[in-house]
Amino acid sequence: MARLEGKTAVVTGAADGIGFAISEAMAREGAHVFLGDIAADKGSKAADQLRAEGLNADFLHCDVSIEADIAGLIDAAVKKTGRLDVLVNNAAIAIGGMPVYEMSDEQWHRLIAVNLTSVFRGCKYALPHMIAQKSGSIINMASAQGHIGLDGWTAYAGAKGAVMSMSRQMAVEFGPHNIRVNSISPGTINTPMNEQVIEQLGPGLMQSWIGMHPIGRIGKPSEVAEAAVYLASDAAGFTTGIDLRVDGGLTAMPHFIPHNSKPV
Ligand SMILES: NC(=O)c1ccc[n+]([C@@H]2O[C@H](COP(=O)([O-])OP(=O)(O)OC[C@H]3O[C@@H](n4cnc5c(N)ncnc54)[C@H](O)[C@@H]3O)[C@@H](O)[C@H]2O)c1
Repeated sequence: MARLEGKTAVVTGAADGIGFAISEAMAREGAHVFLGDIAADKGSKAADQLRAEGLNADFLHCDVSIEADIAGLIDAAVKKTGRLDVLVNNAAIAIGGMPVYEMSDEQWHRLIAVNLTSVFRGCKYALPHMIAQKSGSIINMASAQGHIGLDGWTAYAGAKGAVMSMSRQMAVEFGPHNIRVNSISPGTINTPMNEQVIEQLGPGLMQSWIGMHPIGRIGKPSEVAEAAVYLASDAAGFTTGIDLRVDGGLTAMPHFIPHNSKPV
């Protein structure tokens, strides 16, 4: 039996990258997926593609930095299916690659609006439905950069750290309502977001990224999607308040050479 049969899932930033991979994987596992994204053309094509496979998918334009758009996306899912089982707060943007003193206030506020305030709002509008239903799974997309430092990404890392601690907090607060809240921290994943970073910072970056992951490569969106399907499913019924690292060992690797690892 499909792992998400009969469930309703809302995914933000769903037109491309990890968000699309999650939407596709959840729909293939039987969920009715509501894809929200600021990119209307790409998003409706993504939902068309899933429907062409015979899956249940709807696209709604949603800019996660606009409160009414998030409320509207969640509302549409509940109106059409009568329930809300899964919320994946996935949309985010990468503004960084510069020291913090070169980041403008405008860039800071944009990043916080898209990467952090959106998570607060998604939860704010989803939780009342999940509380009434006495069940739900919220998955917030964090990042390896919430665990380790990387030159030039202070604001992004700050937002991801906050996403993780908010998820933990809500897991405690809403556990008694049978609502699970977890985050996922991907390592470097092959998506348009990273194509943009490579364009900005140069092609040599890819080799450094590969070298940062003990597994010897960067990750695939489908590998993050598998983790999200698990957290959304009843198989993860006792799993809440965790941050699931899908990072090829990136955050496990010491970034120094331990003294005793050298031959003497
Ligand atoms: N790619 C990685 O290496 C990586 C690593 C760690 C964490 N993440 C996180 O995973 C998530 C997905 O990243 P990705 O690499 O797939 O990104 P991506 O840029 O490839 O895709 C992001 C999607 O979000 C949409 N989006 C952007 N701004 C939006 C807004 N204001 N409202 C709604 N949708 C918006 C884009 O149109 C796009 O479809 C993000 O939270 C990101 O921070 C990614």
